[in-house]
Amino acid sequence: MTYEDVSLIPLTTISSKRIFLSGEGTFFTKQVIIESIAPTMLLLHLSIKKEDTPMCIATMQKRRSIRKFVKKPVEGEKIDILIEAALRSPSSRGFNPWEFIVVSEPGLLEKLSKAKPGGSEFLQNAPLGIVVCGNPEKSDTWTEDTSIASMSFLLAAESIGLGGCWIQIRDRRHSDTKTSEAYIRELLRIPEKIRIESIIALGYADEKIPPRTQEELHYEKVYFNLYGATYSLYD
Ligand SMILES: Cc1cc2nc3c(=O)[nH]c(=O)nc-3n(C[C@H](O)[C@H](O)[C@H](O)COP(=O)(O)O)c2cc1C
Repeated sequence: MTYEDVSLIPLTTISSKRIFLSGEGTFFTKQVIIESIAPTMLLLHLSIKKEDTPMCIATMQKRRSIRKFVKKPVEGEKIDILIEAALRSPSSRGFNPWEFIVVSEPGLLEKLSKAKPGGSEFLQNAPLGIVVCGNPEKSDTWTEDTSIASMSFLLAAESIGLGGCWIQIRDRRHSDTKTSEAYIRELLRIPEKIRIESIIALGYADEKIPPRTQEELHYEKVYFNLYGATYSLYD
């Protein structure tokens, strides 16, 4: 069975995915166990070959922040996929405290691009922005949950040929007298109790940023069993 075969299993039947690294062989030949609890207690043991890089890892390897976009709208079907990905994000206790505002109206995107001087301007040339909101009344982990959803947007975008970049909004300022959140809240009529974590700018990339090489990754920040103890790669 190849990794692609796994994607044929309806997502609804997979309630839990866990990857265990067996410690044998190279990264891509380690055993990957995909465990599903409901409804069939399906248990698959897969050996991933190097040429068969799992799709999710391949997407992560390619992803970079994209801030320049081709003047081309993002198709509705692709927006649906992005939303589905975010709605499938894990959240603490499954409270799902996020809410999303999909913005494609150029005038609004232009105004949103002024939310945070020195960090959001590039949004004016993006065809799509998703404002990621959270409801602190629903969960005390709304910042974590909205961050995970933000990442879901970025990874899903990469996997369907789009580029994107996170724009931080929470705890950032629009001006000396106004927070970025207050500015966006007014613009999009967001209720006071709803917080805004980020805007994810999305579209077809008009810049090529090379993927980070393996050598650039900060493996020195990874420890083995004890803090400070070297983690060494198997290959
Ligand atoms: C929490 C967070 C906030 C960010 N805020 C901004 C931002 O406001 N504006 C921006 O241009 N990029 C922002 N970024 C993108 C980072 O600058 C980018 O991820 C980082 O430089 C690493 O580059 P890479 O994404 O290409 O790997 C943010 C990323 C994260 C994770």
